[in-house]
Amino acid sequence: MKAVTWQGPRKISVETVPDPVIQQPNDAIIEVTSTAICGSDLHLYEVLGPFMTPGDIVGHEPMGRVVEAGPDSNVRPDDRVVIPFQIACGSCYFCTRGLQTQCEVTQVKDQGSGAPLFGYSQLYGSVPGGQAQFLRVPHADYGPIKVGDELPDHRYLFLSDVLPTAWQAVEYAQRSPGESVAVLGLGPIGQFAARIAKHHGLTVYAIDPVAERRQMAARHGVLVYDNSDSSIEAIRDATQGRGPDAVIDAVGMEAHGDPESAFAKIAQRSVQYLPDKISQPFMAKAGLDRMAAIYTGIDLVRRGGTLSLSGVYGGQASPLPMLSLFDKQLQITMGQANVKRWVKDILPLVEDPADPLGVDDFVTHRMPIDQAPEAYEMFQKKDDGCIKVVLEPHRSQ
Ligand SMILES: NC(=O)c1ccc[n+]([C@@H]2O[C@H](COP(=O)([O-])OP(=O)(O)OC[C@H]3O[C@@H](n4cnc5c(N)ncnc54)[C@H](O)[C@@H]3O)[C@@H](O)[C@H]2O)c1
Ligand SMILES: [Zn+2]
Ligand SMILES: [Zn+2]
Repeated sequence: MKAVTWQGPRKISVETVPDPVIQQPNDAIIEVTSTAICGSDLHLYEVLGPFMTPGDIVGHEPMGRVVEAGPDSNVRPDDRVVIPFQIACGSCYFCTRGLQTQCEVTQVKDQGSGAPLFGYSQLYGSVPGGQAQFLRVPHADYGPIKVGDELPDHRYLFLSDVLPTAWQAVEYAQRSPGESVAVLGLGPIGQFAARIAKHHGLTVYAIDPVAERRQMAARHGVLVYDNSDSSIEAIRDATQGRGPDAVIDAVGMEAHGDPESAFAKIAQRSVQYLPDKISQPFMAKAGLDRMAAIYTGIDLVRRGGTLSLSGVYGGQASPLPMLSLFDKQLQITMGQANVKRWVKDILPLVEDPADPLGVDDFVTHRMPIDQAPEAYEMFQKKDDGCIKVVLEPHRSQ
């Protein structure tokens, strides 16, 4: 089969690799019909390189049809399924508490990490990813989300990651209707976090430097700003000088425009070119994040408010302004999304003909899998108005 593979920093290639096979009785194999590129894949592309091995299959936002089902799976051949980006058991201490990303049965213990993720480096179990023509799905007795046959893939595909991530970001912000939230970053996660917050009755402000990303959010009733200092002032003015009740950081560790973290940028870059034996401990013990977004969040949120981080952070030595956090009495929530926890809330919305979350206005590019290297580059550089790319693994050109 064809698969998108990591070959080195910023080097993605499509290779022919062996088809996956059932390895455990609760596995399933799916034929992938649509598979998206995520902002998290861009961290592999650059910063998390030390934890990748050339040839690793990437991708964690797939859906498709079951072609083979192990006897202990809960799917059957021909079922149409969306695959959550994490692999969880569904019945352990954490899974039953809505913390599937911490699953006690599947945790990547040798790396000290939570549940394994498809296509997401040694840190998360080196599981072959979903940007491929076929995918082996472990724990198919719990993970796969069965969906109907009528609606097109793009209505369901984002149940794999983007929608639950954005939903969790809003839930973790712990706000009530009538309150306000500022969303930092209007990539795929920020777009939906902003729309879901609106859907929950909040006033939503959002900041992103990229014009077409602001325009897309504005089409869904979001009040948008670029990332200049005057935007912070404008949002403060709009919230009686206090700042919004919550801030959602949908940017994470590769933020743009942070002069104080110029050192972090250099550290992230240089670490990619060290031999893995040296760079892995560096990243795991002393890695630095680019902190522009989180610093903006701490500054902007009102006193006593909530900072909900859905952007991924990966450094162990990133400085936080404890004085401000303590003095402002902030609550910080964060983490990978517990996908299955939120599916029952989201599924009716993506199936609603009125499309209340605007899923029909989201994907900007659909490409055959052979064009994955161009797609990654375009998404990272935000060229050609790119906001979300869906790869179609069985389409030829
Ligand atoms: N928690 C989870 O489970 C989970 C799941 C998926 C993605 N993520 C993370 O969410 C983040 C966003 O993902 P995405 O797919 O939307 O990616 P993306 O890279 O397309 O989006 C990031 C956006 O932030 C903007 N940005 C950069 N610096 C900024 C700044 N200083 N202020 C305001 N905006 C800024 C960029 O212009 C871009 O539009 C990434 O860190 C990704 O890893 C987390
Ligand atoms: Zn993702
Ligand atoms: Zn579990």
